[in-house]
Amino acid sequence: MNCGQSFYIFMMLTLFGVLQLHSQEKSIQILNSGWKFTKGNPPNAAQRDFDDAAWETVTVPHDWAIYGPFDKEVDKQVVAITQNGEQVASEKTGRTGALPYIGDAWYRTQFSLPTLDENKKVLILFEGAMSEPEIFINGKKVGEWKYGYSYFYFDITDIVNNSKNLLAVKLTNKGLSSRWYPGAGLYRNVKVIVKNKKSIDQWGTFITTPVIITKTAQVNIKTKVAGENLRLVTDILDHSGIKITSNETTTIFGHQFEQNIAVTSPKLWSPETPYLYTAVSKLFSGAELRDEVTTKFGIREIKYDQQTGFSLNGEVRKFKGVCLHHDLGPLGTAINRAALKRQLTILKDLGCNAIRSSHNMPSLEQLELCDEMGFMFLAESFDEWAKPKVENGYHLYFEEYAEKDVVNLVRATRNHPSIVMWSAGNEVPDQWGSDGVKRAKWLQNIFHREDPTRPVTVGMDQVKAVMESGFGALLDVPGLNYRVHLYEEAFEKFPQGFILGSETASTVSSRGIYKFPVEKASMKTYDDFQSSSYDLEYCSWSNLPDDDFVLQDDKPWVIGEFVWTGFDYLGEPTPYDEAWPSRSSYFGMIDLAGIPKDRYYLYRSRWNTEDETLHILPHWNWEGREGETTPVFAYTNYDSAELFLNGKSLGIQKKNNASPQHRYRLMWMDVKYEPGTLKVVAFDKEGNAVSEKEIKTAGTPHQLVLDPDVTTLKANGEDLAFVTVSVVDKNGIPCPTATNQLNFKVKGAGTFRAACNGDATSLELFHLPTMKLFSGKLVVIVQASTQVGNIELTVTGKGLKTGDLTLESMKP
Ligand code: GAL
Repeated sequence: MNCGQSFYIFMMLTLFGVLQLHSQEKSIQILNSGWKFTKGNPPNAAQRDFDDAAWETVTVPHDWAIYGPFDKEVDKQVVAITQNGEQVASEKTGRTGALPYIGDAWYRTQFSLPTLDENKKVLILFEGAMSEPEIFINGKKVGEWKYGYSYFYFDITDIVNNSKNLLAVKLTNKGLSSRWYPGAGLYRNVKVIVKNKKSIDQWGTFITTPVIITKTAQVNIKTKVAGENLRLVTDILDHSGIKITSNETTTIFGHQFEQNIAVTSPKLWSPETPYLYTAVSKLFSGAELRDEVTTKFGIREIKYDQQTGFSLNGEVRKFKGVCLHHDLGPLGTAINRAALKRQLTILKDLGCNAIRSSHNMPSLEQLELCDEMGFMFLAESFDEWAKPKVENGYHLYFEEYAEKDVVNLVRATRNHPSIVMWSAGNEVPDQWGSDGVKRAKWLQNIFHREDPTRPVTVGMDQVKAVMESGFGALLDVPGLNYRVHLYEEAFEKFPQGFILGSETASTVSSRGIYKFPVEKASMKTYDDFQSSSYDLEYCSWSNLPDDDFVLQDDKPWVIGEFVWTGFDYLGEPTPYDEAWPSRSSYFGMIDLAGIPKDRYYLYRSRWNTEDETLHILPHWNWEGREGETTPVFAYTNYDSAELFLNGKSLGIQKKNNASPQHRYRLMWMDVKYEPGTLKVVAFDKEGNAVSEKEIKTAGTPHQLVLDPDVTTLKANGEDLAFVTVSVVDKNGIPCPTATNQLNFKVKGAGTFRAACNGDATSLELFHLPTMKLFSGKLVVIVQASTQVGNIELTVTGKGLKTGDLTLESMKP
């Protein structure tokens, strides 16, 4: 992070429940509790004497729309989605999640400040506010922003006082403003920063590592400051916080110090070795400390080369990436570090090495975690430029805000080693026409001006148009969304020498649901509004994972892919955009609850090169299908395997080149269903049996089983445990089709936060302590309070043996 935190800081909770980081020269308050909130637009809500006692009390980060109810009328859109190739308008429900995000709302809170004198200044910083925030302090408007995903701040020195200050924020969410669930509210952190006027600028530190040789790395630090006659001392600390070197300078040009510091025997950052250094920048005036900023950074080299493609620290590699929207499923968009960490933990096991923040600015928490856990990051900015996709989309603000939004994105995040590329846009309709070419150049130049070290891409779907116009040729990295049949041609026509699969697959499936007959199909729909987990269904504009694998494996000039998507998200329920009820996506390898679908194992069998993958599908509970053809697939890193049904061999399958599916999956297409045990035995290259896996037909649901992702939590009022609940028969065999209604109780040092079963058609509310199982599973989210102690979760269901679990909440 490059927003500073003092060496001498101490933390305290004030009367208002506000987290404060204090020191003589700087204080940072995170305003997270004690907020009042209302929907609507009451007159005078910005005024100090306004009575907000009747408003709801909430904590921030907060998403006001996630509590529902789901309603098909919310943001119902009668549109032709032209980027999906539609010509005729039709009614689309659930496109933005069918959750009530539209309308005005107000937030109010109070904060007090340390003693101010004429040498101090005060900033208010928002890390995202959905949307069109208008900020009032003590009844006076201090500023506004438009884009709900942007980080921004205002100087409020002239309006605040030492005693209580009133902060009021008005937000406005227009309908027809998004293509997915945008969330609503102050969904990221709000901070008040008090510092010296003579200090380091907000986001004023820029650290790069231009030269790295085995023995030494050059760490270049540019520091923008306000004031005269200053001296900058920068200490560099290693991973464990030990000072390894230091530099002092008084040479300043144009309010900017520049230091070049040698780090000997540098430890390089990579997904496998996410080694982080810390720079502590201390600004002095004479002997007096004026400011101190702590910045984590990594030493790593990225290169995009016409001959060899992408390399990190000299090693050519491909992006094994996923696109993620910003919502956290049942938690909505309110940012939560534990939820983000769980996502990344699951993605690590997948073997994923990169994330694309589609289609907007990522949270700072997500970037910090990617730095720490080792993920490369493609940080995106916009889904629209000047031409619209939706009536009230970003095009309304593009002219006035695009540059400011890009500048803030880059300045706030450029020290994160995880970020290896910027994206100026996704499938913008400006791909058509000469104005769009100019806009592409203009935006790319802004990124280059702000950060000369990273390339810029745009996710392009109008590949023919951008080949013609020069749009694709001018970008640092040409990103193709889908259009696998045009990769070769684009590689020939574009000058860069490589192609990125900026968005791939868009295969659809519902966890644990299988459809017959098993066949490849585009835009296939069923009466139950689910898609088949045989992973053969895709969209009219997209393709199957295997088609991408062929390009990734056979074309050295393809530098990787970002799969649409890692996790399911709220909204965009393709291929059921016109069906109700359906309110969340089918694209994820992992469902909305965070439970892997079969497709997860298909990618894992390629991406995770450390661990074995041997996964069988479908489940084996097909009462009524006895004697009918029920194909069996295995997703595995092994080349061949033998299948047995109730001890009888159904033959050996070996990966081959008959089709992309035959190349990456083992498929027994003629299996006739009979209940019992299905077993695969996998062989190594020499034909030795090396591993086996079996699944069995389950009896009736008998007992609930609870499996938490963590067993100890931090008693900080925010930490979460995600508990997967499944039901097994009396022999302990998972019941894959169970849909029992369950109830949840949490006692002790925590509370029930939400539940989710991953069913895109469910209208059950996430925050109520009851939900049906979907394909035999769901996830319960338990939140730590600020009390230390045990948290007890009890899950009950009619006729089922109760599931109990004790978690421990410890001092943070
Ligand atoms: C892409 C688009 C994504 C999502 C996806 C669904 O064209 O960039 O935002 O809509 O299609 O397949």
